[in-house]
Amino acid sequence: MKKDDKILEKIFDKVDTIPTFPKVAYQALYLLREEDIDFKKLEKIIKSDPGITANFLKMVNSPAFGLPQKIDSLFKAFMFLGINQIKFIIIASVAKNYFEKDLIGYGMKAEEIWLHSIACGFIAEEIAFDLGLSPLKIEAVYVASVLHDIGKIVLDLYTKLEIEDFRKIIMENPQWDFIQVEWLVLGVDHGLVGAHLLERWRFPKTICFAIRAHHDPDLMIQDEIASITGLANILANMIGIGGGVDVFNYRIPDNLLKELNIDVKKVYKYLKSGLYKTLVFQRGF
Ligand SMILES: [Fe+2]
Ligand SMILES: [Fe+2]
Repeated sequence: MKKDDKILEKIFDKVDTIPTFPKVAYQALYLLREEDIDFKKLEKIIKSDPGITANFLKMVNSPAFGLPQKIDSLFKAFMFLGINQIKFIIIASVAKNYFEKDLIGYGMKAEEIWLHSIACGFIAEEIAFDLGLSPLKIEAVYVASVLHDIGKIVLDLYTKLEIEDFRKIIMENPQWDFIQVEWLVLGVDHGLVGAHLLERWRFPKTICFAIRAHHDPDLMIQDEIASITGLANILANMIGIGGGVDVFNYRIPDNLLKELNIDVKKVYKYLKSGLYKTLVFQRGF
């Protein structure tokens, strides 16, 4: 057994309070991949989970989705939204339930990490559209980008005992990013932990890899979904949404834009619209 595996085993032995990814969301996403979608069936599936339904309806009424009227039923929402938007909102509705508590060890408020995840989702979506990705790949980009920091939740629960050490090192060393502190204190990082969690939830390998790689430039450039997720995370940090105290440590790795064939001018567009969409979203939420 590798050293990483041992540490992961220890962490997940202690942290069994993370609810599994809801079946309802898998079923809904699966249905949305069909050519002829039965929206009544989709409504029935989502409605069986009141928490996701409430989050969905709240989110859909955010000005970020630009709907012309107040929406009070899932079915009505489906009529106004595109398939990609429905997928995005389902994934975000699930993610919201995981980002409900402040991350004490990281010194982050629940709202910060939640908005950071949404910002990352908006930016990743725009990059994926520009690159002309297939619907299935766009769905993978949504999951990977919105859930990319989920490992922080696991580590925050795990670090309860060492929390003061963890917090102190982060606060006293603003030149370090969270990843460096995680390796120093815990011997693992939140990308690895998040990927492990999604593997347990049986997500496709490409999504797990994107989460694993989102702070590792050498890894992320090996895969398109991982590159998009990694870049979106850097840009979400650069616009100052939900980054922690390590926000100024983010730089775009030299070969990442080249690998994705993205012109640097596009980066400004992503920064601008990512910030705009997230602020509009925040206003409505
Ligand atoms: Fe991260
Ligand atoms: Fe992040």
